[in-house]
Amino acid sequence: MGGQPLYLEPRLGRRLRSVLESPGWLHMLTDALGSPLHVVIPDQVVENVDDFRSTCGRRHLSGQVFFAHKANQSHAVLRRLAATDAGVDVASLGELQRALGAGFAPDRIVATGPKNPEFLWLAARTSVTVGVDSPEELEQLAALVRKYTLPRVRVLLRLSGFEAAGVRVLSRRSRFGTSVRELAALLDMIERYGDAVDLTGVAYHLDTTSVTEKATALEGCLLALEECRSRGLRPRAVDVGGGFGVNYLADGEQWERYTTELTGAVLGTRSPLTWGGHGYGLRNESGTLRGTLSLYPAYRPVAGTRYLDELLTHPAPAFGGRPLAELLLEHLYDLYAEPGRALLDQCGLTLARVLEVRTPRDGGALLVRLAAKADDVALEEHGVLMDPIVVPRGAERSGSAVEPVAVHLFGSLCLESDLITRRTVFLPRRPEPGDLMAFANTAGYCMDFHATRAQNQPVARKIAAWQEGGSWRWCLDDQYWPISVGGAQ
Ligand SMILES: Cc1ncc(COP(=O)(O)O)c(C=O)c1O
Repeated sequence: MGGQPLYLEPRLGRRLRSVLESPGWLHMLTDALGSPLHVVIPDQVVENVDDFRSTCGRRHLSGQVFFAHKANQSHAVLRRLAATDAGVDVASLGELQRALGAGFAPDRIVATGPKNPEFLWLAARTSVTVGVDSPEELEQLAALVRKYTLPRVRVLLRLSGFEAAGVRVLSRRSRFGTSVRELAALLDMIERYGDAVDLTGVAYHLDTTSVTEKATALEGCLLALEECRSRGLRPRAVDVGGGFGVNYLADGEQWERYTTELTGAVLGTRSPLTWGGHGYGLRNESGTLRGTLSLYPAYRPVAGTRYLDELLTHPAPAFGGRPLAELLLEHLYDLYAEPGRALLDQCGLTLARVLEVRTPRDGGALLVRLAAKADDVALEEHGVLMDPIVVPRGAERSGSAVEPVAVHLFGSLCLESDLITRRTVFLPRRPEPGDLMAFANTAGYCMDFHATRAQNQPVARKIAAWQEGGSWRWCLDDQYWPISVGGAQ
């Protein structure tokens, strides 16, 4: 193989570990339903919502956790959450219809993202809260309400372009939200359209992992609420969006080692670690490393509720350095959060069958082709580097030596770019045709967000799985309802 294997082992919680301990069951499922196959675990998402709630509860903060539906189109996850008191964040007409159909009452739904008139109409018609992106959208919404005599709509104003107090550092530019500099004009509109809209809060969602940037945005929202109050408006909610992140890897040292070695590979000081010399954003310019690593920080210990906790304890310079949570509590503001990826942590995996294992003539990494397209396992698309787990077919093979191997994982399209991973993956043993590769923790964005029917190949089926009396039960995702069927759920 040449050199030490560079593993990036996935972090596995109790449920994923238990599913993977049932290899016969996983093979039975893929034999019956085909490869690739997505498995979602709705009970895990409920546990994750509870963790978010307790994080707020420990600080005596009230509010709501809205699952960002875009991260996974699973019916089962949505219906399971509808059976709790969690909320849902919908970002399209279709998602809103799904949420209503799953049993969410409108007061547990927030409509965000870019909206077409039909989406706005249905949201207003059903009294869903609308996260308003721009003055134009506010105008459009108010016009719809007046024209079709709809009920007055609750709105959150999504803001952007926050500035840290004292330092002229702008938060990163966003296509979405209205600049805080335009707040006064926006509030004029709120007052003008008072018959059609009811301002209940302000919001932000920033596409960054930086807690400091988000703390600046949250502080900016608190200042915006003060401006509202000075005008006699009474919004009470601050929606901090999503982006709490997931810690995908089990071992921080493996991640450190891998990224260091990748740098070496780009500079040519060690053997290549990717297909075709791909550098994940890094490049070698005459012996000097240039560019930035464009990967998800797969080992991310401060993620999910720990990230939220860090945000809440962050000091707010504009308020004498007091922690943000204290300020929220003092004003009895409601804290809204819209986690997608973080709520789906440990909520599923994707199975793909090994079709072919070729040994290249140059003796390099094995060429492994899977019965899946790169779009079906979009970890690579999201820059998440994490090893699959080989689930051998049948009993452990006797006789064949268990030795680590390096492999390249290809998809089933006749496209050079259909690579399940662009990096060389190290596995503890050689996979064989018929084995399964289990990609853990794919529920957040990596199952259906990018799904295609390219080459008329199937979109992966999805099943919901739950534990009952010590064993795993399942049904097709769209057949799942959170009621007891024959003793299930
Ligand atoms: C408005 C809004 N809320 C929530 C989310 C969910 O983000 P994440 O899945 O990173 O938590 C997104 C993601 O794009 C978003 O745009």
